[in-house]
Amino acid sequence: MTPLGGRDLEWPLMSYPDERPRRLRKSERLRAMVRETTLTPASLIYPLFVTAGNGIRREIPSLPDCYHLSVDQVAREAEVVEKLGIGGVILFGLPSAKDPVGSEGYADDGVVQQAIRAIRSVCKELLVVTDVCLCEYTSHGHCGVVEQGEVQNDPTLELLSRMAVSHAKAGAHVVAPSDMMDGRVGAIRDALDAAGFAGLPILSYAAKYASAFYGPFREAADSAPQFGDRRGYQMDPGNVREALREVRLDVEEGADILMVKPALPYLDVIRAVKESVDRPVAAYNVSGEYAMVKAAAAKGWIDEERMMREILTSIRRAGADVILTYHAKDFARRA
Ligand code: PBG
Repeated sequence: MTPLGGRDLEWPLMSYPDERPRRLRKSERLRAMVRETTLTPASLIYPLFVTAGNGIRREIPSLPDCYHLSVDQVAREAEVVEKLGIGGVILFGLPSAKDPVGSEGYADDGVVQQAIRAIRSVCKELLVVTDVCLCEYTSHGHCGVVEQGEVQNDPTLELLSRMAVSHAKAGAHVVAPSDMMDGRVGAIRDALDAAGFAGLPILSYAAKYASAFYGPFREAADSAPQFGDRRGYQMDPGNVREALREVRLDVEEGADILMVKPALPYLDVIRAVKESVDRPVAAYNVSGEYAMVKAAAAKGWIDEERMMREILTSIRRAGADVILTYHAKDFARRA
């Protein structure tokens, strides 16, 4: 056997029968001891969908075991999530009314603003993250202001900034812009700083792809675009160097955590982002990824728990420090 000491360029020449990797796979205790990737509920963020009204707890057909919750119910759900040791929740809103500029998205008494206050009044540790985007609040379903049939970048920044500040005022711990307008992280950072929230972190959806995997979410959040699609602002699935450019711009503009979305079809992007920045990396295990597992499990074709663990482990192994996932409660219950 050649010793490794001091020779980092040359591997010792060793192979079967001296090498037997199976020795370390003999028992669960042994496997657990040498496991390279582990995951705890503290790294997870669970998405919640807040709807107008009272006493509402309605299962979302496209996302089994996830619910539309009115403000009173969302606080109860958040308590359950907190007790499970899950790191945080991310809030999405289904407003009572939509208009072309998404006014309810930045109203002080909007559903998300109310939900933040309700959750903060009962949960002392759970992190409340908010999704900052107009698509759930606009009548046309796009993530920005539409003029001449096009989503306008710069006029949208002002509205996103107002939304982020209104979430901060209601008590959000982290804001997460998901719209993919150019310059939005910088605009939101400036607005937060000016409003006295210099200490509030931004989790930016930095590399967000125009993906078919958002299908079930758009049904859940009633946010499908009424014309066209999002390819004019979300990223093209073929690109990875562009993801690094988006990440660099967001870091320069003040993002604290960088997110890649979706997760499973973009594990290489998660890895590339992890290697390119010295900030925490998040990944969104999106609605379509979850729905596929649930649908196959309902058919009896897969072992749901094992598949969930394998998927979340793979996202973590690729480099995600934080994972947003609809599996969070299931994972935590069985952790
Ligand atoms: C809002 C937003 C979307 C998701 C998160 N924030 C939908 C979209 O961009 O169309 C998708 C989340 C999921 O699919 O689980 N822009």
